[in-house]
Amino acid sequence: MMRVYFVTIALFALALSLASASDPDPVQDFCVALDDPKSAVFVNGKFCKDPKLAKAEDFFFKGLDIPGNTDNRVGSNVTTVNVDQIPGLNTLGISVVRIDYAPYGQNPPHTHPRATEILVVLEGTLYVGFVTSNPENRFFSKVLNKGDVFVFPIGLIHFQFNVGKTNAVALAGLSSQNPGVITIADAVFGSNPPINPDVLAKAFQLDQKVVENLQKVFKKNGN
Ligand SMILES: *[C@@H]1O[C@H](CO)[C@@H](O)[C@H](O)[C@H]1NC(C)=O
Repeated sequence: MMRVYFVTIALFALALSLASASDPDPVQDFCVALDDPKSAVFVNGKFCKDPKLAKAEDFFFKGLDIPGNTDNRVGSNVTTVNVDQIPGLNTLGISVVRIDYAPYGQNPPHTHPRATEILVVLEGTLYVGFVTSNPENRFFSKVLNKGDVFVFPIGLIHFQFNVGKTNAVALAGLSSQNPGVITIADAVFGSNPPINPDVLAKAFQLDQKVVENLQKVFKKNGN
């Protein structure tokens, strides 16, 4: 009897520790972010505005009906609506993005270090997928049409590719006020300063010349 009790407690504690894998739960109704700490009252994430001074605008964003410009190298554009756009998201563990894709455009392989993503296709046809961690590196993929929903678990490398002949549009919810993005190619080949090409040649089993070319392609302005 006692043993069952302790096992139950242990499982409950485990469930609680797993539940804190995303942003910590808020310890107040809300915490509107403030850049200037002079009039701040307490901290949980960014500084919080005095709740008495909060207004509807702190919880509001306008313009997610406007498509992003997809005229770039990858043919997609992510419009982010996180705590930087809506200060009222501070400490609430959630945000949203709009993603536009030109025909054959893609949101290239990337990860969100702090968020699981749930994606809803509003228009078009997307081939999407994610890869699990080592050693299995299992690849899960699916072709999505309008109205379809797909989940990308926290931290895993994922992508979306517009395989249709028309523009595609998706909305995605993310389980962080500030999910973060690491685009694999940009991080690896476009770091600032550049990673020593010897490292990348061996890591990716590429000729050094190929690595140096990739580093030119992904070089950021100013590095
Ligand atoms: C995304 O679209 C916005 C609005 O049109 C534009 O300002 C921005 O430069 C675009 N970003 C990329 C990476 O093309």
